[in-house]
Amino acid sequence: MAVLVQVYPDKQAASAAVAAKIGALIRRRNAEGRPAVLGLATGSTPLPLYAALVRLHREEGLSFREVVTFNLDEYEGLTGDRPESYRYFMEEHLFRHLDLRAGSTHVPDGIADDQPGACVAYEQAIRDAGGLDLQILGIGRTGHIGFNEPPSARESRTRRVQLDEVTRRDNASFFTRPEDVPHGAITMGVATILEARQVELLAFGSSKAAIVRRASGEVPTSACPATWLQLHPDCTFHLDPGANAAL
Ligand code: PGA
Repeated sequence: MAVLVQVYPDKQAASAAVAAKIGALIRRRNAEGRPAVLGLATGSTPLPLYAALVRLHREEGLSFREVVTFNLDEYEGLTGDRPESYRYFMEEHLFRHLDLRAGSTHVPDGIADDQPGACVAYEQAIRDAGGLDLQILGIGRTGHIGFNEPPSARESRTRRVQLDEVTRRDNASFFTRPEDVPHGAITMGVATILEARQVELLAFGSSKAAIVRRASGEVPTSACPATWLQLHPDCTFHLDPGANAAL
């Protein structure tokens, strides 16, 4: 099996194509009378995708009323009202602009008292919703998907992880001071991601070219968790010319 690679003129075109796929899935599920279950990502990469989804909702009447969402990850120790948290990010850039039902969006709990129990409950909530129909991914320069830093096993599940220092530096711009970036996070596992029926990874800019080449071309290994995506039967990498440069 291999990932399918699609290269677009720019990130707007790539994001519009993925938004159209999500729109088609939601319309199909709405017609069937059952919820579309979306796996969502944070970071700068999905921002144009979320803008495109908001446009589909506002201008083309795409309803998210029956949609259920699960985010990949959350920083440890941050409550959802903190602007640096991923819950806040999602509310700001996507959720508050749509007609989602209260309680239909899920982000791992970064402050749970019983963290292992909360991780098991997150996996169960995904299963109870019927499983992820479509998972959106970015990719970190360490090869992480979600916050599955190297090494992350093919069998890994939702859990607490230690963030790589490269990742902490890459994410520092979202925080007031670099030392404020948490050292830990809660992330869906590789196995959780691979169980999604469809996986759409976005990568933009030349800083991602080397890791995209490794993820799509190297033998799958825990040392580069994104390589596990090659084992998925329906996984597409959506790239702009910069991210494709080294292929
Ligand atoms: P970015 O992060 O979108 O901010 O580049 C991607 C990731 O770390 O998965």
